[in-house]
Amino acid sequence: MIIVVGSINLDLIANVDRLPSPGETVSGSSFTTAPGGKGANQALAAARAGVAVRMVGAVGKDNFAAEALALLRDAKVDLSGVGETFASTGTALIMVGDDGENIIAVVPGANASVVPGDLSKTFVKEGDVVLLQHEIPLATIEAALDQASAAGAVTVLNTAPFHAEAAALLGKADYVVANETEFDLYGEALALGGRDRAARMRDFAGRTGRTIVVTLGGDGVMAATPTDFLTVPAMKITPVDTVGAGDTFCGYFAACLSSGLALDKALARAGAAGSLACLKPGGQPAIPLAADVDQALKSH
Ligand code: RIB
Repeated sequence: MIIVVGSINLDLIANVDRLPSPGETVSGSSFTTAPGGKGANQALAAARAGVAVRMVGAVGKDNFAAEALALLRDAKVDLSGVGETFASTGTALIMVGDDGENIIAVVPGANASVVPGDLSKTFVKEGDVVLLQHEIPLATIEAALDQASAAGAVTVLNTAPFHAEAAALLGKADYVVANETEFDLYGEALALGGRDRAARMRDFAGRTGRTIVVTLGGDGVMAATPTDFLTVPAMKITPVDTVGAGDTFCGYFAACLSSGLALDKALARAGAAGSLACLKPGGQPAIPLAADVDQALKSH
């Protein structure tokens, strides 16, 4: 079982020819809404990877809540740990340019009311994987890491979005997944030593005894464990929309760990899933099914 403690949003998405500069207005070519939030996206990715998933989080008592949870319901994610609050459902205002790049502003709303101890709404046992991100309060993340470790669960912390105050939490998770920008910033905050990123990853793994995974977009993924260093190349693709690609990686990665896959295979499978997620518009709608990932891995 994978338990995701994290954010649930409704994404309000405008497609534009190019992303505007500050103070500039640009015309949009289309507008859609889609379920989102890094927590919910990762929960859906893990479910589409074929693993049983339970979500812990919060939505508002408003019209956005049902749509925000719709694809998780379709994928049979257990939503018994999702509470309803008087705050509004989290929203993300997203612009996607023609080159597939995006800018996102998130209004946490109900996600801010996921409190320390909410993980105890659900039973966590040895062998479960608890997956977290930085879109709920940091105190809640810290409490969930402690509770999960005490129960003998494996913990995976995705460090998005970057918060300098979260640096101290990284050493508490069994697996940390960061993109290159986040890792470089956390590296400064933690005063990691080394001439380059790989050396700083080794320093982190050596100091903490944990595994650090750094995603590099089109350049693939690197991972450092206390004893090993791995690199996995990316599939060659032309991205249409990168929203949710990192979340797809994290959800699939957690699913691979939950299924007992070795780290190198887990990285390759999660990387392929993340690449496929860039080939369709939207975050959750673009998350691939396990069979699509199998196919992509065969043909590469
Ligand atoms: O990682 C993509 C997600 O970030 C979007 O779905 C949006 O809701 C924000 O949380």
